[in-house]
Amino acid sequence: MAGVTGIGYVRYQAPDLDRMETFLSDFGLIRAARTDTALYMRATGSEHHIHITELGEPSRGLGVGLRVDSREDLERIAQQAGVAVVESDEVGGGVRAILTDPNGMRVDIVYGMKTVEPITVRTPLVLNDSQRAPRLGLLQRPTRGASHIARLEHAVLEGPNFEAALEFYCGLLGMEVSDRMYQGDPKNTVVAFLHCGSGQAYTDHHTIAIAKGPAGIHHCALVVLDWDDLMLGHHHLKDRGYSHDWGVGRHIIGSEVFDYWWDPFGNRLEHCVDGDMVNDQHQPDNFPFEDEVLAIWSPPPNPNPAITEVVAA
Ligand SMILES: [Fe+2]
Repeated sequence: MAGVTGIGYVRYQAPDLDRMETFLSDFGLIRAARTDTALYMRATGSEHHIHITELGEPSRGLGVGLRVDSREDLERIAQQAGVAVVESDEVGGGVRAILTDPNGMRVDIVYGMKTVEPITVRTPLVLNDSQRAPRLGLLQRPTRGASHIARLEHAVLEGPNFEAALEFYCGLLGMEVSDRMYQGDPKNTVVAFLHCGSGQAYTDHHTIAIAKGPAGIHHCALVVLDWDDLMLGHHHLKDRGYSHDWGVGRHIIGSEVFDYWWDPFGNRLEHCVDGDMVNDQHQPDNFPFEDEVLAIWSPPPNPNPAITEVVAA
């Protein structure tokens, strides 16, 4: 029996699909499908889509889709949650069970979605360092422009019902705690980083993180091609006049190199690369919730971010 094995997509609601598509394209996603009421964006990998925007107000995060590897796992989770397995009525197809987590987030457990042909991108750059020079006779010439997003890595979900959420993701969906953060008493956990319980197989340090706070999606994180691709995307978004949140830096918990931006509707999205991979040998740590624990190096977060219009055409 296995639980969830990865994150399929994030789902938001926003009042203007054109504006969202323009931003997401500049962020590095590609349109997979568009209906009168929803926008589906893909990465360069084989997932049909990884980001959904439903037309509506108010602007907010609605939930996530989490993958299972078998119909049996889907049936078992659905039965335990007391919901039906249904055919998806969205593009990408497949079957799913639509759950609601203890903080009111929609959590689709999905199986059998269509895959698509990956989009060819340049090979990640090989870097020479002070000890090794594997790049012999090859020049570094990545081209300027938007980042190339390979896949969705994680979503951080906030809500007031922390302990119940932990039981939902670990007990029902089979996830494991990678690391925790606490305030005051070390037993007072306020953030838990969760990886998929995939045994000896390595998986992202966190596919979901849950945090105490007002219910919603704190941010989602998307893996870009390589370090240079993250920096090129940073300058592309800056040139286009979007609101920057925080970065570029390197996290401690999860180790990702990160760069956070705001979409036009107040949702935070993270470009990341070089995150930790863990398996069942990983030993969880417990960190105080302090600024210096959030990054090994980075500039301070931008205060009080404004939501700006796209400057360039
Ligand atoms: Fe993140």
